[in-house]
Amino acid sequence: MPDISFSERTSAQRVAERLDKHAAGPLQAFMVPFIEHLHKLIRETRPSQVDWRRAMEFLTDVGHASDGRRQEWVLLSDLLGVTALVEEINTNRPKGATPNTVRGPFYRADAPRLPLDANISLDGVGPALSVGGHVRDLDGKPIAGATVETWQANSEGFYENQQPDQQPEFNLRGIFTTDGQGCFRYKTVRPGGYAVPSDGPVGQMLGGLGFAMRRPAHLHFLIKADGFETISTHVYDGSDPHLGQDALFGVKDELIGEFKPTGKGDASTLDFTFTMVRAKKGRGTT
Ligand code: BEZ
Ligand code: FE
Repeated sequence: MPDISFSERTSAQRVAERLDKHAAGPLQAFMVPFIEHLHKLIRETRPSQVDWRRAMEFLTDVGHASDGRRQEWVLLSDLLGVTALVEEINTNRPKGATPNTVRGPFYRADAPRLPLDANISLDGVGPALSVGGHVRDLDGKPIAGATVETWQANSEGFYENQQPDQQPEFNLRGIFTTDGQGCFRYKTVRPGGYAVPSDGPVGQMLGGLGFAMRRPAHLHFLIKADGFETISTHVYDGSDPHLGQDALFGVKDELIGEFKPTGKGDASTLDFTFTMVRAKKGRGTT
């Protein structure tokens, strides 16, 4: 008879023994420490049965709040900093390279390809912003022919696909190609910051614990070039008062842009350089 003792001391071991010893692979490798950490957490925090039932109810509510349009599980991962940590682990880039941040749920792969200098604000609502971008490698050499996808919220903090009845389709989205000098330019409006959804179980639980729920104003970029690691990142408005408390832990010094007033009304300009790293062999570029 094998040892079947199940106590505080042995519980994690008893459970881990149930994993097939001959099975290998990433799930097996994840499950052993997962079981150990979970049992350690329970030993340390000592929830009552009622507390644990409440925890199960919360997780059930998170599942019920998730569907094809809303991903409450992803929001939980985002607000707990896990999405940002996974990104950090997987794209730890050398100094000088543009870091990645979470892509988020508002990306659309079917945005229109546009010529340089196009205006992506299809309704023209909001303070004008001219964006000038430069795509370079780590030696400062321009990368011509890079594909630059951009998307952003409007000046009130809403993405076009959140307001399909109020904003024109593809408002504030576009795909550009860098010119021979590795540059791209387009016109838009200044994005507003926004709050992540707080009407679901995750927002209510973490908001109630005092978690920051706002995202500072930002532009999204997805930049691809042959032979380079894809950049999926944000450029933040350096004047946003919420810069220090991004709900999703995405702000990094290298991603803060200066939105400079032009002196003409409320218009501004942004000039930003993206630095790409050569793709490692055997590693995907997405
Ligand atoms: C965003 O910046 O669009 C975003 C990213 C992750 C979760 C929610 C929004
Ligand atoms: Fe965003």
